[in-house]
Amino acid sequence: MTEQRRQVATLDQVEEGETLRVELGDNALCLYRIQGEVYATDDLCTHGQASLADGLIIDGALIECPLHEGAFDIRTGAPARAPCKLALKRYAVHVEDDAVFVEL
Ligand code: FES
Repeated sequence: MTEQRRQVATLDQVEEGETLRVELGDNALCLYRIQGEVYATDDLCTHGQASLADGLIIDGALIECPLHEGAFDIRTGAPARAPCKLALKRYAVHVEDDAVFVEL
């Protein structure tokens, strides 16, 4: 499948230490900004029906799921705390001027 680059936000919409849910057709992504860098993953937790954008960024680089308090590493998508076991899909992010693009 060919990768597609899509602008999903402006930089000022993704505040430091915060999440932003972005709808993309049938899918939704969660954007995060930590230490100035923007990251993107699927928004849906791999453990259940929860939007990670409603979770909390903890320990610097983990997103804590709001439903069962499992966690993932935002930088890699790797599960970091039970009950999460499956990695989150993550997406490459490029920031150009004020525009945030993801590779889909
Ligand atoms: S739904 Fe996310 S930890 Fe259970």
